[in-house]
Order: sequence, then C-alpha cells, then structure tokens
Amino acid sequence: MNIAILGLGTVGTGIVKIIEGANPMSMTADLHISHIFVRPEKVAQDDSDKLTSDYDAILNDDSVETVVEVLGGIEPAHTMIKQALQNHKNVVTANKAVVARYMEEFKQVAKENNVQFRFEASVGGGIPWIVNLERGLRIDAVDSVHGIFNGTSNFILDQMTKTGASFESVLKEAQDLGYAEADPSADIDGYDIENKLCISVDVAYDTLVHPGENLPKFGIRTIEAQDIAHFKDLGLVAKLIGRSELSGDHFSYVIEPVLYQQGVIEASINDNFNYASFHGESIGDLGFIGQGAGMMPTGHAVVQDILDINGQVKHLIRTLEKQFTIDNQFDKGDYIVRTTSDQFDSLTSNWNVTTDGKYKTVSDIDAASMHSIMKRVLASDDTAFMARVSGGAE
Ligand code: HSE
Repeated sequence: MNIAILGLGTVGTGIVKIIEGANPMSMTADLHISHIFVRPEKVAQDDSDKLTSDYDAILNDDSVETVVEVLGGIEPAHTMIKQALQNHKNVVTANKAVVARYMEEFKQVAKENNVQFRFEASVGGGIPWIVNLERGLRIDAVDSVHGIFNGTSNFILDQMTKTGASFESVLKEAQDLGYAEADPSADIDGYDIENKLCISVDVAYDTLVHPGENLPKFGIRTIEAQDIAHFKDLGLVAKLIGRSELSGDHFSYVIEPVLYQQGVIEASINDNFNYASFHGESIGDLGFIGQGAGMMPTGHAVVQDILDINGQVKHLIRTLEKQFTIDNQFDKGDYIVRTTSDQFDSLTSNWNVTTDGKYKTVSDIDAASMHSIMKRVLASDDTAFMARVSGGAE
C-alpha cells in the first residue's frame, strides 16, 4: 500500500521510523511511504524525493491509497482530509481537534467515496482505545466512558504528589520533557481532554457532541502543593478526569479533578500515562493503560489503523444520529473546595457544607451546580480550587 504522510513533526517522524525501520517479517513490510507533505522550505533543505509541498500531486496520484494527516490543528488539516477522501483515498489521522469538530463530515465523505476514515491515535495516543470501544459496542450498549485522557496533567499531579513540588515547577518540567502542548493551557484547563472525550462519547453513544458546547471543565491551573498535602492526609490522590454517563435520553459530560482512594486504579496511573475505560452491559468495566502521547506510541496507533485498512478490517459503523440531552444534574457527588471568596457561603447555601481548616466539603451536589458556583467563585478568588471526591471507580 502506498501512503502519503501530511506533516513530518513528532508523530510523522514516528510513523516513518516504524514503517521504514520494521523487521521484514512485520506486517508493515507491505506499507510504502511514497510522499511526505511538508512546507516548501523543508523540501528545499532535503534531497529526499519523497518530500513534497505539492498536495495536488498527492491527490492526483492514483497509486496513493491512504493519506495520513499528522499536521495537527483545524486548518488546513480539515480541508486536506476532506480532499483526500473526495479523491478516493483512505484517511488516518492523529488530530483530535479536527476529528472532534468534523467527525460527522469526514465519516459522510468517506462513505460517499467508499473509503475508510480512521482516528485511533486521536484519543489516548498509543492506547488501542477506539478499536476496543468499538469492539465492546459490537455486543454491548455502553453507558459510560471515563479516564485520564491527558498525560501532561497526570505527570504534573503525579510529580506534585510524589515530591511535594509546586504546580509551576512541575509544569516547567513537563514542558522540558516535551509532554505539554505548545500552549499548555490546553493540557491544564481541560481543552485537550474535551476533544478526546467528545470523540469517545460520539463513538460510545453513536451521537455527536462538539467541543465548546457548554461542557463543564475545571482544570488544575489553581492547584497548590498545600492541596496535594491535604488530600494526602485524607488518603486521596488527585487526577484530572474526563467523564460521561448515559442515562435514558440524557448524558452527563464533565472534566474536573477527582480524588481517588490510594489503591484504586485511577490513583495508580503514574507519570504521563493515560487511562481510558468504558462500562458495557455484559463486559462491565474495561480499562486500558498506556502512553497517551509521544513519537513512537502515537506513531504505533496510526500504523495500526493503516494496517487495518490494508487488511480490509471493517470497523463498527456509527451513524452519529442518536439525539441525547447533555445534563450534568444527575451526576452528583461531594466536592472539596479551597477558596477565600466571601460569596462561597451564600452560593452554596442550598447544600450541606462542612469545614476542615482552609477546606470546605459540599455534599451531594450535582456537577452542573458545582461548576457554575466555581465559575462565580473564581471571579472573586482566582486562586480557588475544587476537586470531586470519588465514591470508588467513577
Ligand atoms: N499534550 C497531550 C497530553 C498530548 O499531554 O496528553 C497528547 O494529546
């Protein structure tokens, strides 16, 4: 199979290494990279005849069966993916932002042109998450997905827990290690998780939810070493979690720090590892742990998609047509909050609140109300932090 790769950054380089460096007995021996699309300056600097900045040449080359998009971002990735599908080429992408926004369109255009559109690496990097979610869905209705979908935030929380270091110093370490996005706010404020949870929910419930649809997100930007120490005293470990539960015709959808008892799976996910899990009718809880980012793990997931296409492996058909209401009112729990805002007491007067030094616990409150209260609290105290206390595996 002839492949064109769009982009030669971290993931693109990993894909080239895997395909060109594999042993001759590997299934990748059938794969051949015929084109690598890069900026014109890069073509000029390199004498490889694979490098090109002429996308029309790729689109018009009938020998190219699969286009791999690893440019990242929305445009030109969106247009280039669409053009590839319209030119009867399968597309594999690792680009969560473009998949979360345009999954419906890509699936439709792929169907019209009788080609495949695959996006395994867009969620959980190297973890075989989408393929196993689809596998579960061949038998079960899935009524929840949750997990640690961002490695940078997990690394930060894990290091803070292990060393007692400040948020700022560990964020710097994550950036130096190359874990964080160029703008780390995507990692620490939950936007990266939002894309990945949208994609997971689309597949799990056969529906469409888009980033930005008023999805409640509370990140870890304001967490302090004293919070981690307090949680430790309570035997709890903080993780930044994306979670959705389906109930009847509505589902909850929330991104927030969650506190787990030591020993629970989520509490044991170290370093920059990811954890993705779903609950299905007959399979129960099923979770996957692995590297959610990086050159080789993400490259691995992309190459697995290419091999599936080459082997004509059929994936689950999702029409994304089911309609549900997003409703975070049925997702209830206890939240520990640190704030100096003088509005907190009046904002939480409808709930039972207890105090432990600097920390308050709001009991049995729904996620929608808690997130809305914290939005107002942050307006007067931009250092405030909150975390949900898990009742076990969420
Ligand atoms: N910055 C992301 C992370 C990369 O830390 O998980 C993978 O999407």
